[in-house]
Amino acid sequence: MNLYINQLQKKNDFRNAIYAGDIFLNTDLNAPKDLCAFARESITAAFDGETRHQALHTMMPVQEFIGLVTKLKGQFTNCIEVKEMIRNFVLEIGANPGEFLFDVPRIRVVPHYDYLHAGVSYAYKPHRDKWYGSVDCQINTWMPVYTIQPDQTMMINPAYFSVPVKNSSADWSLSDWINVQRPLAQENVIEELRVHPVPLEDISTASEIRIAANAGEILTFSGSHLHGTVPNYTEQTRFSIDFRLVHIADLLGQRGAVNVDSGVADTEAGYKDFFHVSDFSHFQGTNQ
Ligand SMILES: [Fe+2]
Repeated sequence: MNLYINQLQKKNDFRNAIYAGDIFLNTDLNAPKDLCAFARESITAAFDGETRHQALHTMMPVQEFIGLVTKLKGQFTNCIEVKEMIRNFVLEIGANPGEFLFDVPRIRVVPHYDYLHAGVSYAYKPHRDKWYGSVDCQINTWMPVYTIQPDQTMMINPAYFSVPVKNSSADWSLSDWINVQRPLAQENVIEELRVHPVPLEDISTASEIRIAANAGEILTFSGSHLHGTVPNYTEQTRFSIDFRLVHIADLLGQRGAVNVDSGVADTEAGYKDFFHVSDFSHFQGTNQ
């Protein structure tokens, strides 16, 4: 695995590098910084003007926190400003918006583990997005909204990129997740009752990478990398933003990372969450 620093916008064939497992860290792009500034405004608005965002979990009962995080997530995911910033990101790295789709952007909120680690703040176990039905050519982005430390970040475990892991994805349905399980996030407070695809063997952490970045410093990597949430035992709530890019020709041509171990059968169920980067219109599927 190779790690490129501030080179996404300088490497025309970045997609092939990402499909091969390379990771890009960019500290120098404007669109991710704009996304973080917008996220901070959105958090303040969702939490009734409160600006001490990293301490929000100390200010209210968990049920109230869940309600406000749900409001924040819906507003952030669906607003036009975030879509425009994703298009700006694609332009800023020198790519053509007309060639790409994006999956709905998300803001994630991870408070202290003992306060909440289920539902809207589910602490993801090691997984590939591929186990959740993503396409082989899915390009993930991820950035913290505030400076974070290694014990607050997410982890990538590159040693498993091309090494199969026994997992439960074959028993998991993306359609059921979208239509039945995902809407239940608010009801999962104490423990996660929704069934996620998980590893069925021990995962070695020996080669785990935890990148402690600053606000708006963005990671770009294949959705097929094994990654997950680092349980947050710090006193500061972690906020992060992520979105996914899909190159249309690669999707149609079935190019992307090699699928080493996912058994999900209904990947196309996720296409309904894809939008064209160029005009934000819904993707009509691979038969268009
Ligand atoms: Fe993921």
